[in-house]
Amino acid sequence: MKKIAIFASGSGSNAENIARYFKNHKFLKVALMLSNNPQAYVLKRAEKLGIPVYVFNRDDLYKDNNVKERLLNEGIDFIVLAGFLWLIPSSIIRAWPNRIINIHPALLPGYGGKGMYGDRVHQKVYENGEPESGITIHYVNEHYDEGQIIHQARFPIEKGEGPDEIAQKAHELEYREYPRVIEKLLAERG
Ligand code: GAR
Repeated sequence: MKKIAIFASGSGSNAENIARYFKNHKFLKVALMLSNNPQAYVLKRAEKLGIPVYVFNRDDLYKDNNVKERLLNEGIDFIVLAGFLWLIPSSIIRAWPNRIINIHPALLPGYGGKGMYGDRVHQKVYENGEPESGITIHYVNEHYDEGQIIHQARFPIEKGEGPDEIAQKAHELEYREYPRVIEKLLAERG
């Protein structure tokens, strides 16, 4: 059984969707959910799903190596970021080479970088009058939204649609695509 850890800072609807997809899966399991935010709704979702959680602060992640230790102790094989807003430190990136992925709610390299997350992304896409948007799943490196792209999917933005409609379309696409991409990546590696 390969063990997945999911990092999330907020609502965690993607985290929950992924955990449900892999419930009773033959070779994959969401073994841990982690958050930097003790108020994050993702923690409630994890509790309902019976998945252990680990809440950490900046020192745990960047200074004391507590997050890395916890991931190692749990035997985590693969790390999934789903609405996680802090950078992953290089010690963790080195320890899980090509085994940390993120989802971004736009077509990178556009609409990415520090401060571009969640609804801010959809607002900007809307303001710029883009005819389409989408989602990007990519490997994680030391910079926001810059790792190698694994998969993109797109949708049209119709006349009259605003940031809320764009957000909803992006979320639907995320729910459909993210679990499948994780499954495929891990299946290919055996
Ligand atoms: C998702 O749309 C995800 O793509 C985005 O945050 C949302 C989290 O929603 N991530 C970023 O913007 C990262 N730059 P969720 O907590 O309901 O899954």
